[in-house]
Amino acid sequence: MSTILITGSAGFIGFFVSRELLKNGHKVIGVDNFNPYYLPDLKLERDKMLTQSRNYVSVKGDLSVRDFVDNVYDSYKPELVLHLAAQAGVRYSLKNPYTYQKSNLEAFVNLIEKAKMMGVQRFVYASSSSVYGGNTKMPYSEDDPVNTPISLYAATKRSNELMAYTYTHLWKLQTVGLRFFTVYGPWGRPDMAYWSFLENIRNQEPVRVFNYGRNKRDFTYIDDIVAGVVASLFSDRLSPYEIINLGNNKPVELMEFIQTLERLSGKTAIMQMVEPQPGDVVATYADIANAAQKLGFEPKTELSDGLEFFVRWFDEHIPLTEAVRDFRKGSNP
Ligand SMILES: NC(=O)c1ccc[n+]([C@@H]2O[C@H](COP(=O)([O-])OP(=O)(O)OC[C@H]3O[C@@H](n4cnc5c(N)ncnc54)[C@H](O)[C@@H]3O)[C@@H](O)[C@H]2O)c1
Repeated sequence: MSTILITGSAGFIGFFVSRELLKNGHKVIGVDNFNPYYLPDLKLERDKMLTQSRNYVSVKGDLSVRDFVDNVYDSYKPELVLHLAAQAGVRYSLKNPYTYQKSNLEAFVNLIEKAKMMGVQRFVYASSSSVYGGNTKMPYSEDDPVNTPISLYAATKRSNELMAYTYTHLWKLQTVGLRFFTVYGPWGRPDMAYWSFLENIRNQEPVRVFNYGRNKRDFTYIDDIVAGVVASLFSDRLSPYEIINLGNNKPVELMEFIQTLERLSGKTAIMQMVEPQPGDVVATYADIANAAQKLGFEPKTELSDGLEFFVRWFDEHIPLTEAVRDFRKGSNP
């Protein structure tokens, strides 16, 4: 059993991966700053569930502060690192660049530098499908050029991949960058379309359909992502430097996605067709041959099933989802 440092453990993906690793008997040191990008109570709820395991240690702090990061490593001596904390969001990065500088660039250097110094066995980190930027060749393969990020968020994720390359090259630190493709599910992210669309359909408020509904996304269910992330920590088929797509390999048009939500919620969406948003890519579609071969990755959840689980969860957590909505209206991130 390993001691694993997981950053962003109170976040959506971090919570589910931490839960799985705890279930498998590992010790998890979870770090998060519970920032108010979306309702902090949602992060606190996830963290509270994790603290029910005696193998979970919850540490609150900001990873852009070097002394804090050094202290966490010195105190807990993790063998493996899973760095998921980041300032997420494409559109938010257009207006709030410095948050991305701190949480996606400075924090990354703090974590990988200390991982090298401590002799960590493997450093796995979250990248994103957004690095494919303006690419038009589909599906997106890890071998495709990724030199045209069209948002600062994407540029920071690509920078992480390049910094990881340097650490593998210079110091032989094994690094694995996971390019996630639109992850969704229960306990998910209120800033993402699947959540706000459902919220608006439920409340009979207009759903803003970007790019007139022509955008396509490779929606990937959280359980499938968890399987891929856990495999990336333990697979013995990995090279010293890896970049791996984790997507569903089945892109869906936004209109089809909205129709599924309408069917599941029993309500009709009031749609407001709007133009493409700056920073948004038109389509995402993952080539997952690499993930299949190296991680045994095989997404199993159909979008209609995954959305059904999400809608059911949403309905069972009305006070929480109402609080998310009030918080969003108040803070308007
Ligand atoms: N969910 C997706 O569809 C998706 C897609 C592509 C990439 N990713 C990446 O995967 C990772 C996890 O995403 P998620 O969906 O769970 O997002 P999330 O926002 O739910 O989780 C990120 C967590 O990191 C924490 N955090 C942010 N900055 C921090 C800092 N400076 N110090 C300490 N903690 C900090 C936040 O409080 C949050 O709990 C992120 O790196 C994200 O960019 C996610």
